[in-house]
Amino acid sequence: MSLIESFRLTLDGEDHTVPIASGETLLEAALAAGIDAPHNCKEGRCGTCKSWLRTGEVSMANARALSPRNKERGYVLACQSKPASSDPIWLDFDL
Ligand code: FES
Repeated sequence: MSLIESFRLTLDGEDHTVPIASGETLLEAALAAGIDAPHNCKEGRCGTCKSWLRTGEVSMANARALSPRNKERGYVLACQSKPASSDPIWLDFDL
């Protein structure tokens, strides 16, 4: 069972409710829902999917493209982020 069934995503001023399956990253779920979220490498290297985690908790397999300062500020790489708790997630691409 997945920790959450959907999450909130803001992109270009629009709010979406994105269903997410167990084991999916936030980026995979967004793309599967037809949302054209920014991405490139999908491997945690380029930083294109950098977004702000307004609420919730994620775990990142690889966060090399994020500076320690960005991490402190709550930025995440959507391509590496999976839900880490049952707290509602709100991911914001409008930096
Ligand atoms: S798509 Fe390159 S870091 Fe996420």
